[in-house]
Amino acid sequence: MINSIRGFNDILPPETSIWQHIEKEAREIFETYGFSEIRVPLVERTGLFSRSIGETTDIVEKEMYTFLDKGGESITLRPEGTAPVVRAYIEHKLYASDPVAKLYYLGPMFRYERPQKGRFRQFYQIGAEAFGIDDPMIDAETLEMLVSLFQRLKLEGVILNINSLGCKECRPLYKEKLINFLKDKKPGLCQDCQRRFEINPLRALDCKSKTCIELTSLAPSLLDSICEGCKTHFEKVKEHLSLYKIDFHLNPRMVRGLDYYVRTTFEITAEGLGSQNAVAAGGRYDGLVKDIGGPDVPGFGFAIGMERLVMLVKGQRQEAEGMGQGLVFMAMLGEKAEKAAIPLMKTLRSNGIRLERDYGSKSIRSQMRRADKLGAKIVLILGDDELASHSITVKDMESGEQEKVPFEKVEEKIRALLTERQKVMSKQ
Ligand code: HAM
Repeated sequence: MINSIRGFNDILPPETSIWQHIEKEAREIFETYGFSEIRVPLVERTGLFSRSIGETTDIVEKEMYTFLDKGGESITLRPEGTAPVVRAYIEHKLYASDPVAKLYYLGPMFRYERPQKGRFRQFYQIGAEAFGIDDPMIDAETLEMLVSLFQRLKLEGVILNINSLGCKECRPLYKEKLINFLKDKKPGLCQDCQRRFEINPLRALDCKSKTCIELTSLAPSLLDSICEGCKTHFEKVKEHLSLYKIDFHLNPRMVRGLDYYVRTTFEITAEGLGSQNAVAAGGRYDGLVKDIGGPDVPGFGFAIGMERLVMLVKGQRQEAEGMGQGLVFMAMLGEKAEKAAIPLMKTLRSNGIRLERDYGSKSIRSQMRRADKLGAKIVLILGDDELASHSITVKDMESGEQEKVPFEKVEEKIRALLTERQKVMSKQ
C-alpha cells in the first residue's frame, strides 16, 4: 500500500459537493463584480517567487517546493497565485489596451509548512487580483465582494482586520524608527526575528513568539508614521467600507508574510479555525508589476484558503442547503419496469435532476435500503401496478407520504417536493 504524502490531502465525496458549492458561488459573485477567470500553471521559474514574495520571507526561505528539472532549470511549485497572475498580466501585455484587468483564479498552492489543523502542504486558494486602479475605492469594493461571498455562504463570526503598511517612501523611515527602538532588545527576539532584523524588522510586530510580543509592545505605531498620501488612501478605504456597512477591526500590528504589499493590507479571521485562523488575506501591491518587469501598474487582491473556508461552512451546517437538488432514487421491480423506466430516467437526468438507481434487479426492500443509505429525498417506485396504470409511485422519504403520479407529471411532482424542502431548510 502506498499512502499519500504528509500534508497532501484527498478531498472525498460528499465533501467535494461543499467545494463545488463554494466555487460556484465565488465564480458567480466575482463575475458580477467584473472579474474574469485566469488559469496559470502550477509551476513557475523560481526567480518569479523569490523576487516578488521576498528573499527573506518564510515562504521563500523555507517553504518552497523548488527543484531542478531535467534541463537543469530551477523551478518551483507555486506557493501562491499573485506572482504567477502578475507574470501572465505582463507576459500577455494585458495592460496594452487597458491597464485595468480584474482576474480571479482557483487552484492548488504548495508550501512546505508543518502540517496541522488548517495548514497543509498542498492547499487550495480562490483568489482575485485587480490591476490598474489606484483609487482606494477598489480596495473597499474588492473587500465588499469578498464579504458578500462570505455572507452568501452564511458565515458568521468572521472579522475583517485591516492595516496600512505605508509605501516605498514612508516605510523605510518607519523601519529606521523601529530598528532604533528594537536595537537594544534584539538579543531577546526569537531567532527568526533576529535574523530578519536589518532587512525586515516589521515582521517582529506580528511574530507569535511570546518574547517578541512583549518586546515590541511599546514599539512606535506604523499607522502614525505613514505619509500623507498613504494616510489619505487609508482614510478613503475606511470611509468606503463604512459606506458599504462593512465592520472592520483596525490592527496596526498586522504585517503580512509577503513583501510585495504596500498601503492597504487585510486578513479575515474566523472563530473555530484554531491557531491558523485566517480564512482570507490580501492587500495592495503597487510596484509589483514594475518589479517583475512590467509597466508601473498598481494592484489589489486577495486569496481565500479553501480548506479553512470549507471547515467553516461545514461547521455551520450548510451542506444540504444550496447544494443543488436533493437526490431522487428510482426503484424498479422486474425487467419490464427496468426497461420502461429508461426514457423517464433519461429525461429527468437531462433536466438536471440528480437520480440514482440500483443494479442487478434487487428486491424492493434492498433497493429502499440503498435509497436510504444514499440519503435520497424522494424514491420513485415502478412495479407491475404502476406499469399497468402508466404511473409511478412517488415517495417523500422525509414525511413517508406517497402518491401515484402519471408518468408525464412525475417531474413536476419531484420539483414541487424539492422546492418545498428547500423552503423548509432555509427557514431553519
Ligand atoms: P497568504 O496570506 O499567504 O496570501 O494566503 C492566503 C490564505 O491562504 C491564508 O489566509 C490561508 O487561508 C490560506 N493558506 C495559506 N497557507 C496555507 C496552508 N499552508 N494551508 C492551508 N491554507 C493556507 C497570499 O497567498 C496572497 N497571494 C494573497 C493575495 C492575493 N494578496 C494579494 N493578492
